[in-house]
Amino acid sequence: MPVSRGEVPLRRVVVIGAGFFGRVIARRLAAVGITPVVASRSRGDVRVDVEDDRAIREVLRRADIVIDAVGPFQTRSTRLVEAAIGIGCDVVDLSDSLAYARAVLALHDRAASAGVRLFTSCSAIATVAASAIRASGGAAPETCDLFLAPASAETANPATVRAFLASVDRSRSREFPADRRRGYRVETAAAALLPRSWPSLRFVDFWVDPNAPFAAKSLALASRFGLMSLLSAVAPLSARVLGRREGSFSVALSAGGRYSLVRLAAPRGSYLIAAEPAVLAAESLARGATVAPGVVPSDAQVDPTALFTRLRELGVDVRT
Ligand SMILES: NC(=O)c1ccc[n+]([C@@H]2O[C@H](COP(=O)([O-])OP(=O)(O)OC[C@H]3O[C@@H](n4cnc5c(N)ncnc54)[C@H](OP(=O)(O)O)[C@@H]3O)[C@@H](O)[C@H]2O)c1
Repeated sequence: MPVSRGEVPLRRVVVIGAGFFGRVIARRLAAVGITPVVASRSRGDVRVDVEDDRAIREVLRRADIVIDAVGPFQTRSTRLVEAAIGIGCDVVDLSDSLAYARAVLALHDRAASAGVRLFTSCSAIATVAASAIRASGGAAPETCDLFLAPASAETANPATVRAFLASVDRSRSREFPADRRRGYRVETAAAALLPRSWPSLRFVDFWVDPNAPFAAKSLALASRFGLMSLLSAVAPLSARVLGRREGSFSVALSAGGRYSLVRLAAPRGSYLIAAEPAVLAAESLARGATVAPGVVPSDAQVDPTALFTRLRELGVDVRT
């Protein structure tokens, strides 16, 4: 069993998905004293396919903490979660898919009786959003709008681009608050997860500005001429060259006619806003934190003060 600097035994952490976010999370875990095992189909310390039950069982052991960064979640089954429940591993995932959130919620009772914790959408969506709601002190928010302008030069990787293209509704767009940008409406896991913690929420909407020149034009042309798969193939490369490096994530709330805004932004490295919730959640489980089993509500996945303090230390401007 790995041992921390203070000689306290740590639980093993397995990061599955050795793409951009999996590797960022592995680096961040190493920086806090936890060396994870990294796995994917073609890279990392071990090979695993999350759709192959036998391969999953060969890699995972009882009491592991799995960080699942395999995308796009829009095309995933819950095979990995079901195997983890059978083996006895906690799972922290970066899902942004509404259908995946509903499928994980349906596994709550099985996970709870097996003593397994499922931290789903433990990323900007929905953990940072939930932390922002808690920090804004709104006990009964009625609407919640999430606004994302990703650092596309870094984050427009194959799975993220495919997730965006699978969930975007080009017919609806909205201006960002305190920012001269427009974002498209994107289907979000937060719509199923946040009302679990705040039943007063009537609407949860997600707006994304792809944050790359020509993105709007390319999207319009690709959908008009049926070229979405071509766009999905070329966007990661073109965004890496032309995309922007600054990024932001904002949470706008309304409650009883009052409005509040929490904004997180960074000129570089804003992707840490999406990666750090999983790092914090896995770190605290690895060091022995006790959390009630089942699907862990988004507002109970991390401590908002700890998350925002950590993000500030990492260079993110957090305004609550
Ligand atoms: N909720 C949020 O706020 C949020 C924020 C950021 C990112 N995300 C999501 O996180 C996901 C990962 O993003 P990314 O930028 O890291 O994508 P990426 O760079 O394309 O990486 C995806 C990784 O998944 C692995 N993979 C794909 N299918 C697999 C399978 N069947 N079994 C095992 N590994 C598999 C791929 O490696 P191999 O091909 O070698 O297997 C690759 O390493 C995306 O779906 C994105 O939408 C969510």
